[in-house]
Amino acid sequence: MPSRIANARSAEVRTFSETVDPFVGTADTSRDSLRSIEAAMKVLAAHTELFPAEHFQRPGSEPGALFELWVNEAGTAALYYNVIWDDIDSPAHRHGTWAAIAGLESVEPNQTYRLDPETDAPIPAERIEVTPGIAVSMLPTDVHSIHVHGPFPVRTLHFYGRSLATAGLRELYDPDLKKWETYPAQVTVLQPSVV
Ligand SMILES: [Fe+2]
Repeated sequence: MPSRIANARSAEVRTFSETVDPFVGTADTSRDSLRSIEAAMKVLAAHTELFPAEHFQRPGSEPGALFELWVNEAGTAALYYNVIWDDIDSPAHRHGTWAAIAGLESVEPNQTYRLDPETDAPIPAERIEVTPGIAVSMLPTDVHSIHVHGPFPVRTLHFYGRSLATAGLRELYDPDLKKWETYPAQVTVLQPSVV
């Protein structure tokens, strides 16, 4: 039997899905659409009482975990609760779709990049500290990396233009080989444990 908090969370996620509906599932999600999505995510993330740590427990020794909150029927919009319990330094990467991140607890430092017009290598641009009240978003062509070093746990909401539980492609930059590599982006997605 779902708890009162889980029910309240489902209702708030439903409101979020209705708010972002005009902006998702289209082939041409724009920077303006992403700004509207960011605003909706900040409203949802402000409801910290709906995301208690007991519902999103660490499954093992992995440094992070992704919990599914909502995926639309077409699989063209997918909202996750992301928790990080240990240091993570990701390579510069693209998601193969648009993405937006909003802070819930602690800080997820995001590094954005521009591309060298001659070599296509990522060049650091802006560093954005994603904390409560802050959101960032990326078009499919935008590049970022995350550099998380506590305080732990770090909790964020992640929203993508496709489900991460199904195979898709991500691109990451290998600084040693000095080239972009494509790899399957299918990740393990957990369900919140209702208490
Ligand atoms: Fe990313």
